[in-house]
Amino acid sequence: APLDQLVGLPDFEAAAKRYLPIANYTYYRNGAAGEWSFRNNLEVFYRYPLRPRTMVDTSNVQSTLPTTILGYNFSAPFFITSAARAGLGNPAAERGLVEAAAAENILYVPSLYATLSIPEIASYKAPSQVTFQQAYLDPSNDTATKLVFDQAKAAGSKAIVFTVDAPAEGNRQRADRYDASEAVLPFTAITWDYYDHLKTLTDLPIILKGIQTVEEAQAAVAHGVPAVYLSNHGGRQVDGSRSPLEVAIEIRAQAPEVFTQTEVYADGGVRYGGDVVKLLALGVRAVGIGRPFMYANVYGTEGVTRAVQLLKREVALDAANAGVADLKNIDPSYVIWKQSCAL
Ligand code: FNR
Repeated sequence: APLDQLVGLPDFEAAAKRYLPIANYTYYRNGAAGEWSFRNNLEVFYRYPLRPRTMVDTSNVQSTLPTTILGYNFSAPFFITSAARAGLGNPAAERGLVEAAAAENILYVPSLYATLSIPEIASYKAPSQVTFQQAYLDPSNDTATKLVFDQAKAAGSKAIVFTVDAPAEGNRQRADRYDASEAVLPFTAITWDYYDHLKTLTDLPIILKGIQTVEEAQAAVAHGVPAVYLSNHGGRQVDGSRSPLEVAIEIRAQAPEVFTQTEVYADGGVRYGGDVVKLLALGVRAVGIGRPFMYANVYGTEGVTRAVQLLKREVALDAANAGVADLKNIDPSYVIWKQSCAL
C-alpha cells in the first residue's frame, strides 16, 4: 500500500503482512506459547478507560509533547525500542529506524541482536543524536560485556538498557514452525549482585528492562538504577506475564513514590495515542514501541518517520479530547485504574 494511505500504527502491520515473506513477518509478530500475554498487552488498554475532562483549555497540548529521558531532550514521550533483526523487514536493516529517530528527534534504543553492528548503526546517526544501547549480558563473561559497553560508548550511546526478562529462550511456537526463532540466549544467572558488579564495568547509566512487579521496581530503586523499564518483552518470553500497564497500576497502588524516585518507562501493546496517554497518566515518563516500527521499517526511513508523525498527532489529539492541558502535568485521575475511581 502507498505510504500516505497508512493512517495509524496498525496499518503498518497489515501492509507488512502482505509484503513480507511469512517467516519474516512471523518473527516480528510472534508471542510466547498461546499468546495470551501478547493479546492482553493490546486489549488491556480497553479495560482501563479514560476519565476525560471538559472545560479545560487544551489548545496548547501539542506543545507539551516534548520531554526529557534521562535528562536528554526529545520531541515526544515515546521511543523506538529494541527489536532484533530489522534486516528481516528491509535490506537496509536498522538504518530506517535510526534515521527516522533522528529526523523526528525521538529516542532509539538499538537491540544488541540488531542486523547491523553497533558501529554500523552509529554510522547512520545524526551528529548529536542521542541513542541508548540495549544489551543482553552473560554474567560468566565480563570480557564480552566490557566489549559491548565500550562499543556502545564509542558509538555515542548515552545509556545501557540491560534486558533482564529473558533468562531463557522464549517458547515461540509460531516462529518455530518457520525456524525463525531468536538466537539462543545463554541461560543465565542475573542477580542484584550482578547488577551492582556491572556498574564497575562502565560509567554509562544502566537501565533495567523487563521489570514486572512492584517489589522489583522498589529493589531497583534501592540499587540506584537511573530508570526502571516495565516490559514483558511484548509477550514474547513468558506467556501469562502481565501487561506493563497492569504493572504500572500495581506500582501506582502500592509504591507510587517509585515514579518520583526514578524514571519509569514502559512498553507492550501500545498502538494508539490514547494508550500513551494512559501510561503517562499513571506516571510513566516515556513509552516504548516495538513491532509497529519494525513493520513501518519495511518502508525504510520514510515509513518509520510517518509512523512517528502519526503517533505524535494521535497523542496530541487524544490528550486534547481527554481534557489534558499539559501532558507533563497529567495525573492518575485521568484513568480508571482502581475500583474507587469507577464509583
Ligand atoms: C523484541 N524485543 C526485544 N527486547 C530486547 O530487549 N532485546 C531484543 O533484542 C528484542 N528483540 C525483539 C524482537 C522483536 C521482533 C520484537 C517484536 C520484540 C522486545 C521489545 O523490546 C519490546 O519489549 C516489545 O516489542 C514491546 O511490545 P510491542 O510494542 O511490540 O507490542
